[in-house]
Amino acid sequence: MNLNIKVWRQKNNTSKGQFETYPVKANEHMSFLEMLDVLNEDLVSQKKEPIAFEHDCREGICGTCSLVIDGQPHGPNSGTTTCQLHMRFFKDGQTIVVEPYRAKAFPVLKDLVVDRASFDRIIQAGGYISVNAGQAPDGNSLPIGKDYAERSFEAAACIGCGACVAACPNGSAMLFTSAKITHLGLLPQGEVEADRRAQAMVAQMDKEGFGFCSNIGACEAECPKEIKLDNIAFMNRSYYKAVFSGE
Ligand code: SF4
Ligand code: FES
Repeated sequence: MNLNIKVWRQKNNTSKGQFETYPVKANEHMSFLEMLDVLNEDLVSQKKEPIAFEHDCREGICGTCSLVIDGQPHGPNSGTTTCQLHMRFFKDGQTIVVEPYRAKAFPVLKDLVVDRASFDRIIQAGGYISVNAGQAPDGNSLPIGKDYAERSFEAAACIGCGACVAACPNGSAMLFTSAKITHLGLLPQGEVEADRRAQAMVAQMDKEGFGFCSNIGACEAECPKEIKLDNIAFMNRSYYKAVFSGE
């Protein structure tokens, strides 16, 4: 496949960026990141600066491979991270536009790399859970309803990639934060600090400069782990319950 990659180049956090277009030869079995590896090898062989982009697991687990591809975070395939997106979904001769996430709380550091430390600070604000750190309890010794276990498990699938923020016109982090609050809030292990956790994480989210949710739903549509909007309802309930109970 012969492709043109129109990619955002930005030297550092303070410089003004611009798009540059490079040709690249890829094959349909490559992942999107492997295609960028090939492009970078071409650039290095021409003594040009390679494109900075983040990646780690390349298995859809770590959430670092966060790019906006043709206007969509993680590209055109639903429920798929950039590292799991394959070139067969693009056409020979196509020009593909690749940008970093655009959000006030995710400043661009270089090219396609943004600073997502704001997410880490939201997690940190959640704090600890009061589990007995002694011997591991026997399996099934702590009964948890099937519905709760499944909803918690689904919320725990959030990989913290930030696509929800990039997709949202308000730059809201409510889907991410609510997934984390739901994941622990539905389990007995997370119940003790549930009120404090919900308040602290929501306060940190606001402090980081993320926008508010106006029920557009772009976050759910673009989330590679298909985290559901009803987590936001759970977060709002947890938050207001904590506020009104004076916790
Ligand atoms: S909710 Fe989805 S899009 Fe947002 S950080 Fe989690 S996995 Fe990524
Ligand atoms: S590189 Fe880890 S999720 Fe894509």
